[in-house]
Amino acid sequence: MSKKWQITVPGSTANLGPGFDSIGLSLNLYLELTVSIAEQWEIIHVTDHLPQDIVIEDHLIYTIAKETAARFNKELPPCRIEMRSELPYARGLGSSAAAIVAAIELANLVCNLQLSTQDKLNISSQIEGHPDNATASVLGGLTISQMDEHGVVDTIHIKDLDASFVVFIPNIELKTSKARKVLPEQFDRGYAVRASANANMLAASLMLKDYERIGRYMESDLFHEPFRSKLIPNFDEIHCAAKDAGAYGTALSGAGPTVISIIPNDIGEQFVVKMKKQFPAHEILLTKPDHRGISVTEVLNDVLT
Ligand code: HSE
Repeated sequence: MSKKWQITVPGSTANLGPGFDSIGLSLNLYLELTVSIAEQWEIIHVTDHLPQDIVIEDHLIYTIAKETAARFNKELPPCRIEMRSELPYARGLGSSAAAIVAAIELANLVCNLQLSTQDKLNISSQIEGHPDNATASVLGGLTISQMDEHGVVDTIHIKDLDASFVVFIPNIELKTSKARKVLPEQFDRGYAVRASANANMLAASLMLKDYERIGRYMESDLFHEPFRSKLIPNFDEIHCAAKDAGAYGTALSGAGPTVISIIPNDIGEQFVVKMKKQFPAHEILLTKPDHRGISVTEVLNDVLT
């Protein structure tokens, strides 16, 4: 009987304001691949919002899995993959990082690469170009990371944040590459000092789980939001409305266009009801941090083990 695996990877939010290209938080929205070895390549998009017309050679799952196998001088065998996703494309919820992490795991399984967690952190962050979303998708929870000039990632992993996160997803796509083009190449020293002090305070507040302060420093970014906010529908209005409705703080999710608020757990449902009335054009979801990161289950006779 041929083997079948289910690979599950959480999506993520990155930056949380000033933690630019460093801080990531996994969310309980998932990408799932069901994989078996086959005679020829086939990737079936089971979820409606995934595009149906991608040729295999251009598919991110295929290209990254092939590239990962090649790093270890292995050839990827043809696979049949069913792909399901709760992550909207190009909205700032880590759909590309989740796909990269899933594809690396695919190569790991079918080529028996025996990758360590550190290997997965390094390879996924190198491919993404920054470690924020990828580390959160690999490990789950909150990750504060640095990638050195050799592509080696160091991550501080914080679990059990006791708060909820509400995402405001507009009906437009914004590619990260476009949202990075509006950022300045350089900052002057005084500005850079203030920006990095805000990031330090955010990281320290996250480690202390001081939610009021986390919210305050999430709203203090100077690295990217002042330059990206003009690309984001209702950016200022969502900040004000979320604060009035009890949010600790609000920031751009990754490169946007999704905006994310951190809120106390006990106001979740009422907060979402209020926000849906005020922002009917947005999809608004109540999420929690995922605590598992990537997981693999073997499927025997179509029963998960
Ligand atoms: N840190 C990245 C950015 C996240 O803000 O551009 C999106 O990939």
